[in-house]
Amino acid sequence: MEQIEKALARAREMRAGSLGGLRPNGRAVSTNGFTPQYTETAVAKCDQKRTSKERLVADSFGHPASDIYGLLRTQVLQRLKKHGMSTVAVTGPDLSSGVTTTAANLAIAVALDVNQTVLLVDLNLRKPAIHEKFGFQPTVGIDDYLRGEAQLKDCLVCPGIARLVVLPAREAKGEAAAEVISSPRMTALAKELQNRYADRIIIYDAPPLLTSSDTLGFLPNVDAVLLVARSGRTTKAELERSAHLLGNKAIVGTLLNAY
Ligand SMILES: Nc1ncnc2c1ncn2[C@@H]1O[C@H](COP(=O)(O)OP(=O)(O)OP(=O)(O)O)[C@@H](O)[C@H]1O
Ligand SMILES: [Mg+2]
Repeated sequence: MEQIEKALARAREMRAGSLGGLRPNGRAVSTNGFTPQYTETAVAKCDQKRTSKERLVADSFGHPASDIYGLLRTQVLQRLKKHGMSTVAVTGPDLSSGVTTTAANLAIAVALDVNQTVLLVDLNLRKPAIHEKFGFQPTVGIDDYLRGEAQLKDCLVCPGIARLVVLPAREAKGEAAAEVISSPRMTALAKELQNRYADRIIIYDAPPLLTSSDTLGFLPNVDAVLLVARSGRTTKAELERSAHLLGNKAIVGTLLNAY
């Protein structure tokens, strides 16, 4: 954690306070506590064995890591609320940092807060994995929507956890991913999600920062970033390069993933 903090310190110094450089969007997050009924959203039957194998443990009472994700939720929600923000991209410097695992567990942890609804979006169009974490196979996804071949409402899935909705991606996009992610249609979708679901926290499972330009191109569409580093593998140089690329973007948290 110390490494991450040090690497980010330089970027923070360039900002007036950790989040001070950003203009809050002024939208408040929900505090009215309710469990929505998903009348239009498909409910996926998730494979419980799979979710445990995939380390979705945020809702596993008594599991040591569930407390960690609870703490992460508190930190992220406090920082978002303080600045009137609601959208976060979870990313890491390199491949296999634990981004998808963190994004999915954070989404579950936030959904466990009875005051908060969450939309988890799979933005890793090169390697969609959110549906695998939850153990369901999407029939349409964000990629179909972006091609104009599906309606948004048909792409949304409730993975059986109250207050959590997933927007999965279906097909790996390869090199075309960067183009799709920074397309006007993607920007319009991000805006629509933010406006249509103004009382929801939106969490994007984003590709690594340093292996392609996908995430960097998308960052203007989110309020803040949660940075995941892998213990013993992510280097100081990678963290510094990530911090440099993030520039003035708000960082609502860092997580050192050990495995
Ligand atoms: N803390 C952990 N303990 C044990 N295994 C973990 C942990 N975090 C992640 N993993 C495992 O490591 C693998 C990679 O994790 P994950 O998919 O979350 O990384 P990622 O950063 O999203 O990777 P990618 O760059 O491919 O998108 C997965 O098999 C996941 O189950
Ligand atoms: Mg991933």
